[in-house]
Amino acid sequence: MADAVVTPWDVSGDVDYDKLIKEFGTKSLSDELLARLQKHTKDLHFMLRRKVFFSHRDLDWLLSKQEKGEQFVLYTGRGPSGHTHVGHMLPWILTKWLQDKFDTELYFQLTDDEKFLNSDKLSMEDTHNFAYENALDIIATGFNPKKTFIFSNQDYAKTMYNIALKVAKLTTFSTAKGVFGFNNSTNIGMTFFPAIQAAPCFLPTELKGKKTPVLIPAAIDQDPYWRITRDVADRLGYYKPAALHGRFLPGLQGPNSKMSASKPDSAIFTVDAPEVARKKIMKSFSGGRQTLKEHKEKGGDPDVDTSCQYLFQMFEEDDDKVTEVFRQFRAGDLTSGDVKGMLADKVEAFLKQHQKKREQAKKNLDKFLVKD
Ligand code: TRP
Repeated sequence: MADAVVTPWDVSGDVDYDKLIKEFGTKSLSDELLARLQKHTKDLHFMLRRKVFFSHRDLDWLLSKQEKGEQFVLYTGRGPSGHTHVGHMLPWILTKWLQDKFDTELYFQLTDDEKFLNSDKLSMEDTHNFAYENALDIIATGFNPKKTFIFSNQDYAKTMYNIALKVAKLTTFSTAKGVFGFNNSTNIGMTFFPAIQAAPCFLPTELKGKKTPVLIPAAIDQDPYWRITRDVADRLGYYKPAALHGRFLPGLQGPNSKMSASKPDSAIFTVDAPEVARKKIMKSFSGGRQTLKEHKEKGGDPDVDTSCQYLFQMFEEDDDKVTEVFRQFRAGDLTSGDVKGMLADKVEAFLKQHQKKREQAKKNLDKFLVKD
């Protein structure tokens, strides 16, 4: 098996999450730290209990600040290169839970600049339009309209530019090359872009006029940005951002497959008709055996089965149910068709709800979007 690649623009191969913690120099999310978090939140989200979010930077520090009365804020984002799929929403669900538990602000960056710079197909108008499409999904996730600020970089550049300049000045090309793998054919927009993704880490401090702790829930491929941000924070008089790192939801074609807007069958998109989503799930990669007879005798592998993984990471909140599904699938008592059907029911229900809220969100865009 080829070594896994995990960068902000490319995730491929068999991702070993323990190895990533070592390579990236992050900390695993320990049971002690989760217990400390739980003192604030009373219960623990299943994505934390199950270590779907498995790693962090400075979450302990952030909680200490919170305990001393320094309210933190949340920051996350999305690269609007196409329609939202359920994998994008996974970190948003945890982010909403954190917002509710800590009653805190959320800054949500839509990188329609990055996706323009990084694509040979999408125009600036395309990525800007997708930013607005994606914003509907963000709003439909249920964030607090009074405390959530969603911005497209194209529409909010002025506010971020001066912060980005400070970050850029302290970040050498040699560092950026090392962290992001830039080379001589990388366009210079991309080499500056990391400073723009860093800016919201410091923006709350600027807006409030006092040092403000920031927590970033995101998939672990975004960590390289937080590394350079943390490198310059002290020198600029800001707190280093804290981060919570999530696993990736696999594509529908199996554990190492990618979800891609150009391959409709690779992912469930939030705009998919529920019955289309069901069909995709019924065709998805299975960890079951070739024949029903063999499956009943030898059992399947829930660790590679798409439906089992989707239930575990995102769609089944009840721990006992998930454990039971895994056990029965491993024992051969549940077939691939059975678990696919279970997931399809969950996803159909999810999409029906989500699409209603997504429609309503069209009326509420103004409550969430900030521009300058
Ligand atoms: N670069 C991210 C992407 O392509 C978008 C993004 C911007 C982001 N700021 C973020 C993601 C903060 C997570 C957290 O998806």
